[in-house]
Amino acid sequence: MNILVTGGAGFIGSNFINYFINRDDVLIYNLDKLTYAGNLDNLKSIREKRNYTFIKGDICNSELIDYLFTKYKFDYVINFAAESHVDRSILGSEIFFRTNVIGTNVLLEAAKRFDVKKFIQISTDEVYGSLGPTDLFTEKTNLSPNSPYSSSKAAADIMALSFHHTYGLPVVITRCSNNYGQFQFPEKLIPLMIINALNDKKLPVYGDGLNVRDWIYVLDHNRAVELVLEKGRVGEVYNIGASCEMRNIDIVNLILKKLEKDEDLIEFVKDRPGHDKRYAIDSSKIQTELGWKPQTLFEHALYETIDWYINNKEWWGKIITGEYQKYYDIQYGNS
Ligand code: NAD
Ligand code: TYD
Repeated sequence: MNILVTGGAGFIGSNFINYFINRDDVLIYNLDKLTYAGNLDNLKSIREKRNYTFIKGDICNSELIDYLFTKYKFDYVINFAAESHVDRSILGSEIFFRTNVIGTNVLLEAAKRFDVKKFIQISTDEVYGSLGPTDLFTEKTNLSPNSPYSSSKAAADIMALSFHHTYGLPVVITRCSNNYGQFQFPEKLIPLMIINALNDKKLPVYGDGLNVRDWIYVLDHNRAVELVLEKGRVGEVYNIGASCEMRNIDIVNLILKKLEKDEDLIEFVKDRPGHDKRYAIDSSKIQTELGWKPQTLFEHALYETIDWYINNKEWWGKIITGEYQKYYDIQYGNS
């Protein structure tokens, strides 16, 4: 099967390709614009594989997309490509709507014209908004996104489902919770805190640190995407989560403990505007229907992830200069 994977040089997409490329029955075409978040180093170990092709390009470029669909006759599309960071979306939202909404529209239009067998839209639990202390997001929870990032993802979800409803396009949506693992760009909570702690820099915790996220190891997410590709029912939404709710401050403390660094490094900083309080996923639908189960224990995989960042200083050393430093100074001040 010919699979178009978009955004395959980013965190989750590159982990997906590194995992999925080992199957004999797939040819993977990775289309990525290589924004600040795209990194071909993530794919070093597989770039020579005969069933892997990289194409640098923008999902918003309809001529390019048309050309690629004509040339490679994709059977499947997995759309990971996105602007993905909430804080950047608060600093400026335009590129979020361009890539996440217009880009998805370009892909859906092409998928419709070229009769793909399945189009997987990789979405997020953030489209549901924020939870109170006890309930869970199910696939029936109303969409109530609060950030420019999550509202752009929600718009793309609704559009994708409308292509199924109107044209019969075989769309499936996945909504996963917060991922962690190797190759995650250091703007996100876990790698940011690991790298700052390794560099004895302050760890900026927003607000009171009591916001809750539901964490999943990236490989567990990608195994779910594989199952959705094989067996997911079209027109459906599948929530993906490992029932691992953690307060931000508890994660930061675990990282400090593992690195044997002092709690004094923690600095409570101004809260993120519109900061969602709690996310938590009910993943019983994908578990019952498709037989998915998370296979990873949080503390174990978090410690493995920390070890990965300790052992891959070269990978992140290149990233935290230049554009990243500029972003960091704007986001956090010159601390
Ligand atoms: P990421 O920011 O690490 O990677 C995004 C990739 O998309 C990068 O390689 C980037 O170069 C590429 N890209 C951006 N704009 C593009 C464009 N216009 N054309 C082609 N390529 C483009 O993101 P991630 O964390 O790997 O997230 C991947 C997907 O999973 C996103 O759709 C995101 O919304 C979703 N998601 C992420 C999480 C998470 O915890 N990170 C959780 C749930 C869902
Ligand atoms: P993040 O990794 O940006 O994911 P998301 O906002 O998409 O859930 O943030 C995870 C949580 O960590 C979120 O509640 C915001 C918080 N956070 C901080 O406290 N400090 C930081 O520097 C960052 C990046 C996040």
